[in-house]
Amino acid sequence: MLHGKTIVLGVTGGIAAYKGVELLRLLTKAGADVHVIMTRSAQEFVTPLTFQTLSHNPVHTELFNLIAEQEIGHISLADRADLFVIAPATANVIGKLANGIADDMLTTTVMATRAPVLLAPAMNVNMYRNPMYQENEERLRRYGYLFVNAVKGELACGWEGEGKLQSPEIIFEEAVTALTPSDLVAERLLITAGPTREEIDPVRYISNYSSGKMGYAIARAARRRGAQVTLVSGPTALPAPWGVTFVPVESAGEMYDAVMARVGESSVVIKAAAVADYRPVARAGEKLKKQGERITLELVKNRDILTELGRNKNGALLVGFAAETTELLANARKKLMEKNVDLLVANDVTEAGAGFSVETNIVRLLHRNGRVEEPGILSKEAVANLILDRVAELRKDKES
Ligand code: PMT
Repeated sequence: MLHGKTIVLGVTGGIAAYKGVELLRLLTKAGADVHVIMTRSAQEFVTPLTFQTLSHNPVHTELFNLIAEQEIGHISLADRADLFVIAPATANVIGKLANGIADDMLTTTVMATRAPVLLAPAMNVNMYRNPMYQENEERLRRYGYLFVNAVKGELACGWEGEGKLQSPEIIFEEAVTALTPSDLVAERLLITAGPTREEIDPVRYISNYSSGKMGYAIARAARRRGAQVTLVSGPTALPAPWGVTFVPVESAGEMYDAVMARVGESSVVIKAAAVADYRPVARAGEKLKKQGERITLELVKNRDILTELGRNKNGALLVGFAAETTELLANARKKLMEKNVDLLVANDVTEAGAGFSVETNIVRLLHRNGRVEEPGILSKEAVANLILDRVAELRKDKES
């Protein structure tokens, strides 16, 4: 995801400096080449060796370091960086940057860069609320600096309130977003994901193997690309993606209501959820008792959300999925036409590396003009971005 990207991670002196280590781990795991700059006070909390070991790069601590200068020659970090992230960023360093003070390696390099700068403040609640700090933050925002807001919580100083560093996972998300072209800013995406549960009695239900990974990957990728995203999700074990409006549902009926209530405000609907086609005719109020050797469960058809959306698109672009076990293309083509979708993503869920629960998928993209794309096995994140590339193209076509 971040392969080929150079990120400079600035760490300043606060108790949250240790969380910079976790952020570094996430960035390097995603493939970024990370160069750490630590202020002098940051080194009071965590040693440069920790960052050096995990980044596989020398850690910069001094503005004038003859050995480092020799090693990196004239290639300055400021020029090489695709992104600067300062986490944690103290009131002191934010104050310096807001007022053009460049008196150490970090502030000098930040001021010399043309790359985007993402600041994750962490400080005492009273410092955070101090108008001097607020003014400095406001000024930096005006200059185009990006911020990951501090959150409420128990602070190291003993106070409770705003000023706690946002979690490394969310700072990571914002870093990825800062590096992702915003080609979907004008779009409002409604995405469904996960399975549905159709209750039989208070302790049993009918469901399927959907983990939600495919739909959540689309929601995450769309948000990174600037879209406003609403994710309607059946029950999954996944955390709600950062920055999306999350609507949890249980049954196909609830998913139907949630989608229909929001479709009017959506420019694109992507239906990755594995919705139950049938539900029990009646849900028993009590746990069903064990009976004879056989038991019959009567089922009734659920409304097909996608079919209904296809009947009245209201200007929205519609992307459907097809989960098949045989005759993939023939069945998918039928769904493309019958459900009147603009793009159909077909997967054979019996193929190794495709479909339910796994991290990858093998999809075919069926277009209405008969074109079929077969990108082969990809991570679900890559599949998500491929679908969104096509969504961006189709939306452009629609508008022109
Ligand atoms: O969640 P993962 O573990 O990552 O797995 C991903 C996935 C296999 C669930 C996903 O890739 C996928 O194929 N999703 C669609 C599953 C499905 O229900 O397919 P279907 O062929 O039964 O339905 C066709 C389309 O109609 C789907 O877009 C479905 O959301 C929609 N549908 C189906 C029934 C119904 N009552 N209402 C619907 O809207």
